[in-house]
Amino acid sequence: MKANSYKLRISAALIAGLATSVAMSAIAVADDMGHGPVAAIKVNAKKAELGKRLFFDPKLSGDAAISCATCHQPDKAFTDGLALSKAYPGSKGFRNTPTLMNTATKKNWFHDARLGTNLNDVTRESITEDYMMNMDMRIMQERLKQDPVYVKMFKDAGLGEPSNGGARKAIPEYLKTLTSRNSPFDKGEMSAAAKRGYELFKGKAKCASCHTGPNFTDGKVYNRGVPENPELWADPMRHMTYVAFGLFMGIENIMNIRRDVGAHVLKHKADGSDIGTFATPTLRELKYTAPYMHNGTFKTLFEVVSFYNQGGGEDKNKDPGMKPLGLTFGEQQDLVAFLESLSGDLLNDDAHVWKGEIPSNYKAIENWVEVKN
Ligand code: HEC
Ligand code: HEC
Repeated sequence: MKANSYKLRISAALIAGLATSVAMSAIAVADDMGHGPVAAIKVNAKKAELGKRLFFDPKLSGDAAISCATCHQPDKAFTDGLALSKAYPGSKGFRNTPTLMNTATKKNWFHDARLGTNLNDVTRESITEDYMMNMDMRIMQERLKQDPVYVKMFKDAGLGEPSNGGARKAIPEYLKTLTSRNSPFDKGEMSAAAKRGYELFKGKAKCASCHTGPNFTDGKVYNRGVPENPELWADPMRHMTYVAFGLFMGIENIMNIRRDVGAHVLKHKADGSDIGTFATPTLRELKYTAPYMHNGTFKTLFEVVSFYNQGGGEDKNKDPGMKPLGLTFGEQQDLVAFLESLSGDLLNDDAHVWKGEIPSNYKAIENWVEVKN
């Protein structure tokens, strides 16, 4: 019985594997490392369209001044070009804004992988966190109901009246449309340098053990010895924002600690050996997403590659496998050429960007403390 069901499962897996390779052969086929085009995800078009408008709508933030797209900008593959992100007034971001390309293929989110559930939860967190959009979901719901375009769009999408639950379904549906496409790597149009770089990536430079699969990430966390960004401690507002986050996450000694503990927030290992571990990011669309790492420490891909080449940074918890790579200058350039070949189309067309006006007439109240309801 057991053996039988095992066999059944194997053949089901084989068939599923066949189906994917058939589906992919239209563009290109994943190679032996599982590196290949990211498969497009089927979406409900009406929900995704609604999600798109919500993504670009500043009404979703407390002061009606910032939208998701303030930080996740289509022209930068949904990043912002800053080392450390912006934040809601009264706070400042303490991490680099990650790309949202292929984010729907991930199993966990944020640089510390702290959310492992789904994009509905990531969306809620992004809207309500006081350093992100600082929005009360009940107020959001009322604002959405006052906008006749939303009343129609929610209804058409089968989500009834505008509601925060509906918004948290629609935004992830839009995020599913952000799939990488047309990179030289996927089209089989790599330069000679990029091809040499890919061989190094899989071989001598040992990158493919973590940066694996179509999205070039294994979804795990590691310590690469990435140096701290001193700006986080030099700027009182950023530091305060990080301390508030740390208190909420129960980080020990948060008042004195001078480092971003990363995925330590997941397991709080008593010996601190998980301090400074961060999630393996995607390597897609890197051309548009500088600066790099969880804190924007490196401005160029060449800086990242030479950091790896010297065996990473100083950290007692650093991944023991991280050793100097002995790559020549030319080999490092080839590796960069390969990384660049993983960047494709920017999704800044009408299909991915809400280009119409979105009315938002909420004025900030001066002296609100003294104003009576
Ligand atoms: C003020 C800037 C800012 C705004 C506004 C913002 N984000 Fe983000 N977003 C970030 C930063 C910074 C991170 C990484 C945070 C961390 O790792 O702790 C992030 C992470 C994410 C991630 C996880 C990506 C990954 O690969 O782990 C998703 C998904 C996301 N944001 C979606 C959204 C959505 C949807 C909205 C609007 C509802 C939004 N964001 C609004 C800055 C912002
Ligand atoms: C042991 C796992 C592991 C290996 C091996 C590895 N990486 Fe990484 N990589 C990571 C992690 C984890 C990060 C994120 C570190 C951070 O944010 O502080 C990262 C970050 C990066 C980034 C920055 C991406 C961004 O958007 O900020 C690039 C580029 C990169 N790696 C390329 C490479 C190359 C090239 C190699 C081979 C020389 C390599 N990696 C080997 C785990 C790995």
